[in-house]
Amino acid sequence: MKAIVVEQTGGPNVMRLLEGEDPGPGPGRISVRVAAAGVNYIDTYHRSGQYPVPLPFTPGLEGGGTVAAVGEGVTEFKPGDEVAWPQVPGSYADIVIGPPEEFVPVPPKVSPETAAAVILQGLTAHYLCNSVHDVQPGETVLVHAAAGGVGLLLTQMIKYKGGTVIGTVSTDAKAELARSNGCDHVLFYEDFAERARELTGGEGVAAVYDGVGKATFEAGLDALRPRGMMALFGQASGAVEPFDPQLLNAKGSLFLTRPTLKHYMADREEYLSRAADVFGMIEDNNLHVRVHETFRLDEAVEAHQALESRKTTGKLILVP
Ligand SMILES: NC(=O)c1ccc[n+]([C@@H]2O[C@H](COP(=O)([O-])OP(=O)(O)OC[C@H]3O[C@@H](n4cnc5c(N)ncnc54)[C@H](OP(=O)(O)O)[C@@H]3O)[C@@H](O)[C@H]2O)c1
Repeated sequence: MKAIVVEQTGGPNVMRLLEGEDPGPGPGRISVRVAAAGVNYIDTYHRSGQYPVPLPFTPGLEGGGTVAAVGEGVTEFKPGDEVAWPQVPGSYADIVIGPPEEFVPVPPKVSPETAAAVILQGLTAHYLCNSVHDVQPGETVLVHAAAGGVGLLLTQMIKYKGGTVIGTVSTDAKAELARSNGCDHVLFYEDFAERARELTGGEGVAAVYDGVGKATFEAGLDALRPRGMMALFGQASGAVEPFDPQLLNAKGSLFLTRPTLKHYMADREEYLSRAADVFGMIEDNNLHVRVHETFRLDEAVEAHQALESRKTTGKLILVP
């Protein structure tokens, strides 16, 4: 089998393609031939050491593919089944092995590449707008990095629920894309809180969905209405500094959460139900998945460089 391996944390160049024996699934696990692996921002945090993981490791958590073999005792899947996964470590490879409960079936109308491109960011967008703050029809919320992978999906889901979206982006081209994706108002980061307040008649937005972190967090608190929700779900610009919780009082009895996907697919039922919603939206043409670029597995370095240099919109996938 082929896999990208990181022996020491650092820049994108620490990733190397290695070849080894396919160990097979082993009891209670399945092995899957990877059609495409999704590239996510969290993969860069693992690679750089910002989120520590034991070394050496194969990056990647997400993908879509076909079950190759099932280990003893596995009844839920059989060879040939199409599956996707958002949380299986070692996905930058041509074979991925994990427990069956980490995989979901992919409906026939959704290609393995689309499944790989949507499963992690789609489930994330789903829990953010349905469970972290359940967007109500007519409500205005703010989505940072609205032309990014999560941003494009989150905007579409909020619009589907009847919400109004103010999106932030860094370039004119991204502004154009965010607008065509359904954003009602598109802002650059400068003065976004004041502008969001103006756009809501001085009231402020009901929720801020912030995957940018350090660069936007504090101003985001100023964009919120009293009792609004700050959903800080990532840190593409760096980690938010510690702060005094009294600030949440001063700025309007605000709520702050730092959610992560695994707690919003807490059991098999929740995981399957969210995945069915996301795939169902694609099948019904209510969710468009934008793949920005497809890289070969041995181009993982280039994929990370593109993502970290803010050159991408939507999703990057690696094809073994
Ligand atoms: N908590 C969870 O469950 C969860 C799950 C999935 C993803 N996430 C988080 O969600 C965020 C988005 O992930 P993604 O994979 O969809 O990535 P992405 O949004 O496609 O890429 C990150 C975007 O962040 C913006 N950005 C702002 N400042 C930046 C900086 N200093 N450096 C790099 N980018 C910067 C860029 O858009 P502009 O150029 O327009 O600013 C960039 O395109 C990440 O923080 C990720 O960790 C969290």
